[in-house]
Amino acid sequence: MSFSIERYKEESKKLDIAGVEWNEVMRNQLSKGDLFCLHYMMDIENHVPLYLSHLLVTRACMDPILTAFLACWNYEELWHGENIGRFLNLYGIEFDSQDRIANVRANLGFQNSVSLMSTMAGSWLLKDFSAVYLTIGAINELATLTGYGALIRKSGHPVLKDLLGRIIKDERRHFAFYFNSAKEWLTDNEKAQRMDRWMLNRVWVPVGQGVKKLEEVDALALHLFDDEQGEEELLNLDEKIGKLPGLSGIKLMSKALYGARERVRKNPAWGRRLIENEEWAAPRKSPVGALTTRRAITAESSVSVIEGG
Ligand SMILES: [Fe+2]
Ligand SMILES: [Fe+2]
Repeated sequence: MSFSIERYKEESKKLDIAGVEWNEVMRNQLSKGDLFCLHYMMDIENHVPLYLSHLLVTRACMDPILTAFLACWNYEELWHGENIGRFLNLYGIEFDSQDRIANVRANLGFQNSVSLMSTMAGSWLLKDFSAVYLTIGAINELATLTGYGALIRKSGHPVLKDLLGRIIKDERRHFAFYFNSAKEWLTDNEKAQRMDRWMLNRVWVPVGQGVKKLEEVDALALHLFDDEQGEEELLNLDEKIGKLPGLSGIKLMSKALYGARERVRKNPAWGRRLIENEEWAAPRKSPVGALTTRRAITAESSVSVIEGG
């Protein structure tokens, strides 16, 4: 698997949706579980700019190749969230994207600032911290594209298959960048390898956790991966990450699935109840969300702008 930053810079673009059969979206039914996953995925795609803010305070950003990648990557991710939102709207689920994004962000609260500060401190105190970030990037991208693949399989929805298939192509390039960069950093660097493994085993969480609560993460994992094929896909994912220097045999995503199964064993309604109650439909309203959402331009205000101009 190769990656050329020059080629990526030249080729990076907004998701190509030409020919997607948007008017066919309503033709096929989606299960509540599929809809739950799509809302989760949209929220996490839309969260990328905030995740980027964490990356930009690290010492890793002294590297111009990394910042060039992040500039293009952030733009591509924007269109993933936008198009999943468009799909959901066309399926008949009404929401205002801006309002939803603002509320998801506002609900992060103080914990987001603490995490930002500790990331910054960690990266400047420990040189090899970058290896951890690059590895987590690789796992997140691979988990995302594996999740999209599983949702294509579970839903059997042809338009969703087309849309997610296009997004998966972007995610593969993202994975290639993070994986190769992590590999470069970890090769012949035992100290970095030890730190990477230690951090992944202790602080790593599946993509989306933190923005989403553990039960939501479990609900997604159980809907997409709680069968023979799903489990195998997660074991393959771990195996691919295990090819990075120093990470041989590491278990991350499969361990997360087994953890989710264990929580269901103790509480059979765990995860499933969120899907059934449609709690995903609207994020908790936050007073901060109201402050961070732009006010919609009403007909009245646009007239006064024109008159005033
Ligand atoms: Fe994405
Ligand atoms: Fe991505």
